[in-house]
Amino acid sequence: MPVQSYDVIIIGSGAAGLTAAIHLAQDKKVLVIAKGALDGGSTAWAQGGIAAVLDAGDSFEQHVEDTMIAGAGLNDRATVEFVVSEAPAAIERLAELGVPFNEGEQFGERWHLTREGGHSHRRIVHVDDATGAAVQKALVKAAQAIPNITLAPDMVAIDLITSRHGEKYSGDGHVWGVYAFNRKTRHVDAFVGRATILATGGAGRAYLFSTAPRGATGDGIAMAWRAGCRVSNMEMNQFHPTCLYNLEVKNFLITEAVRGEGGLLKLPPGVPGGGERFMDRFDDRGELAPRDIVARAIDHEIKRLGLDYVHLDISHKPAEFIREHFPTIYARLLDLDIDITKEPIPIVPAQHYTCGGVIIDLDGRTDLPGLYAAGEVTESGLHGANRLASNSLLECLVFGEASACHILDHWDELPAPPPIKPWDESRVTDSDEEVIVQHNWKEIRRFMWDYVGIVRTDKRLERAQHRIDLLAKEVDEYYGNFRVTPDLIELRNLVEVARLVIRSALHRKESRGLHYNLDYPDMLPEAVDTVLAP
Ligand code: FAD
Ligand code: SIN
Repeated sequence: MPVQSYDVIIIGSGAAGLTAAIHLAQDKKVLVIAKGALDGGSTAWAQGGIAAVLDAGDSFEQHVEDTMIAGAGLNDRATVEFVVSEAPAAIERLAELGVPFNEGEQFGERWHLTREGGHSHRRIVHVDDATGAAVQKALVKAAQAIPNITLAPDMVAIDLITSRHGEKYSGDGHVWGVYAFNRKTRHVDAFVGRATILATGGAGRAYLFSTAPRGATGDGIAMAWRAGCRVSNMEMNQFHPTCLYNLEVKNFLITEAVRGEGGLLKLPPGVPGGGERFMDRFDDRGELAPRDIVARAIDHEIKRLGLDYVHLDISHKPAEFIREHFPTIYARLLDLDIDITKEPIPIVPAQHYTCGGVIIDLDGRTDLPGLYAAGEVTESGLHGANRLASNSLLECLVFGEASACHILDHWDELPAPPPIKPWDESRVTDSDEEVIVQHNWKEIRRFMWDYVGIVRTDKRLERAQHRIDLLAKEVDEYYGNFRVTPDLIELRNLVEVARLVIRSALHRKESRGLHYNLDYPDMLPEAVDTVLAP
């Protein structure tokens, strides 16, 4: 296939990628690729909302402090201050694009602000309990209306094009775009530009239970790592406390806003203390403690009492209030014969957010010239050891814009791409053992859940490391011999990312935020990032 040129290549069409695209397109020709549908990432699944200081009684200082407390001191204060101060303007831009945030219920309140765990104030703007769907829809609509933006769904990025793919090898690590598998033609296309932005989201699907969509396989983290970027704090995987427990529907989130609006965590009937609350035994903030604490408390109770789940109960609130605030959850659960206005919801913790990722600076720049990154794929310093609820859509909006601004402001310093070699399509053998890919995928997700989950030990981590090393060898061989397929591309990335998580977890000899190791239950005096370099 011929090599196709644009000014800027963006990999990912969620909140981060489309924010960057809309900003860049005032002046530049932009290609946005997505590996499936344009709304296939986590953005469209977000429920609770977006955090910003919008109330007269709230302050930037309090939002910064809450973020730092949740992040257990591992956050970068300058990044936190930057993101928090940019938040109100980012929300305003979304409102201008037509996102119908719920209006205030009290006099003088422009938008209704809900509350979530770890926030000292009501500061979450939302669109009922389906904020992400409204944000994604508005961003796609805006991007579709801009002639400078080409949207290309069904393009699975395989690897970044770096200077070693140039016809003349320069070796400076410059990134010039991406090779991507085109699901329609089943060939590999090369897309080049002066700048490339990675906005590929997280890696939740490395775990058996995750609230994230099927495509959250850490592709961007793996591609950046292979190209030569450092990654940081990959051991910090956030487990959301309240994912629906249902043997068929394994990844339906029950938003934290349910607890924010009064939902209570209780032990199910039939065990000592059945029907009673338990969070007060773990933290003074009860149900509204930060996620790591609530998830660990639930995990502890489930293991202590041999339960399958605990209960989240909001049925004490008026039925009308529940239906009005949580229409999506109400309807979905009613379909499963659970009426949340009358009965509790069975819940378990599940992987939810990848706090670690590709290291970026305040302009979204990675270690490699020409490569920027924004959103869940990154480690910007905002979340530290644990993300505060509703800070991540915010991060996408702020860094999507910051990277676009830096590219526009420094356009003349960005060199034009050299001639690039098309993808080598000489590997023509189709695998006759696709089933192995499925088996390997399942195996990784299972042992990541069992050994690298909410509570870790060195022994469990070493077991996981042994298994991932064996799998990495197998997958490498497989990747080298057969024609690429979307499943194989994702498996290769999952192996890479799982390896980075395990290595990082073994490296941290303390318990901090989301990383809890029974062999080192205490926090060390100094907060230090786990930085891995290729
Ligand atoms: P995503 O929205 O995940 O988009 C990733 C994009 O990259 C997609 O277009 C995908 O197709 C593309 N992509 C990935 N790999 C490739 C590849 N190899 N080739 C081509 N394209 C690729 N955060 C909040 O702040 N508030 C919330 O209320 C909230 N609720 C959430 C609820 C759920 C159920 C989940 C899962 C997450 C929630 N989060 C929430 C987190 C938040 O939604 C995500 O962190 C955020 O949406 C990530 O946006 P993103 O733009 O970085 O990536
Ligand atoms: C939720 O609605 O509980 C998710 C919020 C978030 O992940 O930030």
